[in-house]
Amino acid sequence: MADFSRTLNFTSANEDGATELEALALAPSDHVLCLTASGARPLDLLLGNPARITAIDINPAQNELLRLKIAAFKVLEDEALYAYLGIANSRHRPDLHRRVAAGLPPASRAFWEARPGAIASGVWHSGRWERVLRLGAFGTRRLRGRSIDRLFAASSLSEQADIWRTRFDDGLWHGAVRVLAQRWFWTRIIGEPGGAFLPPPAESEARLTGLFRRAAKHILFRGSDFAVLLFHGRHSVQRALPLHMRPENLAVVRERIDLIEITETGLDALGASGLGPFDAFSLSDFGSYCGQSDYDACWNGVIASARPGARFCERVFMNPVQPGPALADAVRVDPASSQALTHSDKAIIYDIRCGTLHPTRE
Ligand SMILES: C[S@@+](CC[C@H](N)C(=O)[O-])C[C@H]1O[C@@H](n2cnc3c(N)ncnc32)[C@H](O)[C@@H]1O
Repeated sequence: MADFSRTLNFTSANEDGATELEALALAPSDHVLCLTASGARPLDLLLGNPARITAIDINPAQNELLRLKIAAFKVLEDEALYAYLGIANSRHRPDLHRRVAAGLPPASRAFWEARPGAIASGVWHSGRWERVLRLGAFGTRRLRGRSIDRLFAASSLSEQADIWRTRFDDGLWHGAVRVLAQRWFWTRIIGEPGGAFLPPPAESEARLTGLFRRAAKHILFRGSDFAVLLFHGRHSVQRALPLHMRPENLAVVRERIDLIEITETGLDALGASGLGPFDAFSLSDFGSYCGQSDYDACWNGVIASARPGARFCERVFMNPVQPGPALADAVRVDPASSQALTHSDKAIIYDIRCGTLHPTRE
């Protein structure tokens, strides 16, 4: 199976940038550190108008994806951008790519020349997880087509929660979740190393079923771009999109796009990297990929590059890891904001952990 640390694993968006924008409350002088992944979060954070965003990832392919998206924003008009990325249909992607590639450094151009299939079908839906979600949506649509339509047409949260309870939350759904809760399914079928850090299957199953019940009561699925991916398999201009791709935000994102700088490094190396100091950190769910000692090492890198009082926003998916006791003074979680954002986050599958950082300098 292709090496996860070098392949395109996340290419669209599976987080809700509105949460990071609220948690980080960016000021015009802020320097933000953001994990790259699909590029969705760094691009969403431009809407907070900080001074700079440094996007880092240990996977060079994810950084290449962000370079490509930035180049596309710069040279393509709105309609062509949707078409090129694969959010709208197009037979002209290779032509559009010639214009985009002209703005890329030679190494990035070579990276994409080696992936003509992803360019021709649109990079947006070409990631490992996007393929998994599309397959899941295909199966769900075959079994639950009309119910999905009703779920997305719900006019209130109580109506939606009722539809979820009566039409989705049944034996078939629990069976599917039981498979998803198995480590072997992640590591051997999907090729996702985060599977190694899943809790025992019964716990994972309870967490996943609980997350959807919670979401059905707190957010409208039709307004969630992640729910669109899960139940419809693809993003389109007609349905909910991540913040930076919404028609009303494209011009602002384009205007600020040079505020993003991209670097290949890990969170644990931030202190020595000289990239900081940072005023805010958008950390995604990096804890999905580590045990306690690596997780704490990442926090130490974050703390070492943080200005006193810097804000952070972390996402917790399945691995319930928390900063170890030695970090308690430096990583201060705001429980009330974390809980409120957990309930309002439209990406369904995460708990939010946000707060402030208090490094002690020698
Ligand atoms: C945390 S993962 C989760 C994916 C996420 N839900 C998304 O789509 O944005 C996001 C990215 O973080 C990168 N990553 C994970 N741990 C990291 C670390 N310690 N330092 C730098 N990048 C890391 C992965 O390579 C991946 O591309």
